[in-house]
Amino acid sequence: MSSEELHAPRERLSGETLAAHHAIVSLMEELQAMDWYRQRADDCDDDQLKAVLIHNMNDEMEHAVMIVEWLRRNVPEFATQLTKFLGKDGPIAA
Ligand SMILES: [Fe+2]
Repeated sequence: MSSEELHAPRERLSGETLAAHHAIVSLMEELQAMDWYRQRADDCDDDQLKAVLIHNMNDEMEHAVMIVEWLRRNVPEFATQLTKFLGKDGPIAA
């Protein structure tokens, strides 16, 4: 999947760019899975299955945040923006 989404010839991309691409595609997949589990849980009338779907949704959040942490450690400007915005009070787009 990831190689199909490249927007430049693979041989011209650095190892760092390819690794970041893999992380970004993986983050997109984790967030999509989170969204799907949430929707299915909302739509589910079986309480036990709903609980499993919510558990799985939370697992996807864990996976997503682990990738965000990888991006923080490996993409310096991403780390800068996280520091700028995360955990702050007040308007986000001030
Ligand atoms: Fe996942």
